[in-house]
Amino acid sequence: MTIALHHLTVETPSHHYPIVFGTGLIAQAGRHLAPYIKGHKFFIVSDDQVAAHYLQQLEVSFSEMNLERHTFIVPAGEASKSFSIFERIMNEMLRAEPDRHTTLIALGGGVVGDLTGFLAATLMRGVPFIQIPTSLLAQVDSSVGGKTAINCAAGKNMVGAFYQPHAVLIDVGSLHTLSKREILAGYAEVLKYALLGDAEFYTYLLDHAEAIIAKDADVLMHIIRHCCAMKAEIVAQDEKEQGRRALLNLGHTFGHAIEKHAAYDGTVLHGEAVAMGCLMAAQLAVHQGGISRVDYDQLHQHYTMIGLPTHLSRDFSHHHWDASQLTDYCYQDKKSERGGLTFITLNKIGDAQVTKNMDAAIISSIFQEFIA
Ligand SMILES: NC(=O)c1ccc[n+]([C@@H]2O[C@H](COP(=O)([O-])OP(=O)(O)OC[C@H]3O[C@@H](n4cnc5c(N)ncnc54)[C@H](O)[C@@H]3O)[C@@H](O)[C@H]2O)c1
Repeated sequence: MTIALHHLTVETPSHHYPIVFGTGLIAQAGRHLAPYIKGHKFFIVSDDQVAAHYLQQLEVSFSEMNLERHTFIVPAGEASKSFSIFERIMNEMLRAEPDRHTTLIALGGGVVGDLTGFLAATLMRGVPFIQIPTSLLAQVDSSVGGKTAINCAAGKNMVGAFYQPHAVLIDVGSLHTLSKREILAGYAEVLKYALLGDAEFYTYLLDHAEAIIAKDADVLMHIIRHCCAMKAEIVAQDEKEQGRRALLNLGHTFGHAIEKHAAYDGTVLHGEAVAMGCLMAAQLAVHQGGISRVDYDQLHQHYTMIGLPTHLSRDFSHHHWDASQLTDYCYQDKKSERGGLTFITLNKIGDAQVTKNMDAAIISSIFQEFIA
């Protein structure tokens, strides 16, 4: 079968690597990834849900290569980005006697990607790793750019490293087994790109809402490539988030507070928290005169039509949301400096900036609008 392949190169000061896009790529991964596996051993990390769908075809694709393979499976879900899972897998990997060339392959969503990346960054002070993202969120965002992390009591992604993969293989076909809820969670990150930096792309998304929900393969391929190109461009300029890369956190300070308030119990997905955060950022922009009420209403309508959450108390009613508690959590964000609140704010649709020393009372009032 001939597969239409597309390539993009991510060029960071520390590393250059390809992103390969296509359909049916997992079944041909061995061939595509052979040049990036230098040693005689490789380790696959996946979660139990993704493994049930794709592990066998990935393993078969390597069967003709004379390589020693070990597979490590973690439970699906955010809870696997933890010290305890990290420790367990790290010890299992060490028992499999890796060397400096042993390559780690992450097969799964952002959880597996972030965990595997951090394992790769720390196993024997760093071994090569490859991302095979299978969720929309991971395909448009987390697999590219080299942020790796686990969560801890102090908050999300608080322990981690900037560590670039050696290659990213995006099989858009793998999205056909992803639930609608997870597609929407990934779509929140897609919208984020449009809102922070590309008004034309935003219009495209508004026009293609139905095709996106229907998982139209061409539309998905277009938006995934577009987001990866945007991310590659930003990461090339600012690999370690000293400046422009911070814009990719649009909606995330609100979102991380929401996830923390929900205690990472799986009831609010990361992408859903980001979706709420982006809507809150838009509401903040209305208050600050950045975007018009008409723009906000159009975004809100798009959320409703596509099925994204728009209200904390109504969409996540099993939690008792507290605006002042949520605001306190915002201070724990990694962007906070000297005890002040830092937010990514919208100047207009397609244009964002970093704003320091945000007034906590304004942030609390925004949370309150989505609770009352
Ligand atoms: N490193 C970064 O730059 C970055 C960026 C954004 C988000 N993240 C992180 O990514 C994580 C969220 O990622 P996610 O939304 O992919 O979550 P996830 O990895 O938990 O995947 C979501 C669910 O979908 C399942 N799944 C994945 N692919 C599937 C497929 N093809 N078919 C069927 N089921 C499939 C998984 O088993 C899981 O249950 C968060 O921890 C977040 O912090 C990291």
